[in-house]
Amino acid sequence: MLQQWKQEINECDSLQKLEEIRVSLLGKTGKITTMLKTLGGLAPEQRREKGAEINQLKENILSFLEDRRTFLSAEALQQQLDSEGLDVTLPVRPELIGTLHPLTRTMEEVIAYFTQSGFCVAEGTDIEDEEHNFNALNIPAHHPARQSHDTFYLNSPDKLLRTHTSPVQIRTMKTTQPPIRILSLGRVYRYEFDATHTPMFHQVEGLVIDKGIHMGHLKSCLGEFLKHYFNVADLPMRFRPSFFPFTEPSAEVDIGCSKEEETLKIGAGKDWLEILGCGMVHPKVLGFCGIDPDVYQGFAFGMGLDRISMLKYGLPDIRPFFEGDVRWSKHYGFSPFISAGT
Ligand code: PHE
Repeated sequence: MLQQWKQEINECDSLQKLEEIRVSLLGKTGKITTMLKTLGGLAPEQRREKGAEINQLKENILSFLEDRRTFLSAEALQQQLDSEGLDVTLPVRPELIGTLHPLTRTMEEVIAYFTQSGFCVAEGTDIEDEEHNFNALNIPAHHPARQSHDTFYLNSPDKLLRTHTSPVQIRTMKTTQPPIRILSLGRVYRYEFDATHTPMFHQVEGLVIDKGIHMGHLKSCLGEFLKHYFNVADLPMRFRPSFFPFTEPSAEVDIGCSKEEETLKIGAGKDWLEILGCGMVHPKVLGFCGIDPDVYQGFAFGMGLDRISMLKYGLPDIRPFFEGDVRWSKHYGFSPFISAGT
């Protein structure tokens, strides 16, 4: 009997059939199960002997089944691998290669630059709450700064679409011991729409917290980045005093440019372009996150990624960024094979 079953198992050619054999032998009404059931009617002496015999039979069958299952599974996997194989020697079809969105390219450039300067990329969430988007950033309810953010509130209580990437500052400071050097890039949302504004756009936030950090560090960090990003060694820059509730002092940074006959050129010229907001992290914000402002100081900055992408690559209108027109992507997109590294 054992030999016959063994042969049946070893000749079985599919996992499904193997399962059928297993059930026919060891299932509830299987042959071996039925044999085991007859033991109860035997005399004790016989029962012990017969019991050991049937159990041995069962063990053997189980081991044959297991061996065959291993063999058939490996065979099935190999068949799958063979049928899904890619022929990597096929020639490339250029019409099938897409382009990288200018914004993707800009993000890669920003990340490549700052990570080389020791920054880590931190993640945030698009759906935020009032606590992180406003309160912890020293923007209490009824503060006029709240009105200047045309916020999308969600139906669930207290939830909103973040209006800036600054909540990532709070999330990072609450969970990380200084020194901190992070960069956070992502979508932000405000209720506005024209040639240079869309209800969803992108920002990059930078945050540095350590002992003895001052405005000079902020100035050189941003100055060096802007020169590098716009590839203009003597880029004129000015730090204009400004106001953000979560930084003190606060500044907006303008870069020099010239606007002649509809063409904008970044670099020396008689015009200025506002490019980002920044400042020294407000002691109240540090304290709120459990960082002692008498020991640690820091700076933060926030910059519109769509904006710096438009400026660098000469794109006059932000709206096509998100329209998904393949002709636009082909024209303004970048080859995925050329690195944005520095
Ligand atoms: N969050 C500010 C904005 O969206 C920018 C900013 C970031 C300003 C960090 C200062 C420091 O306008």
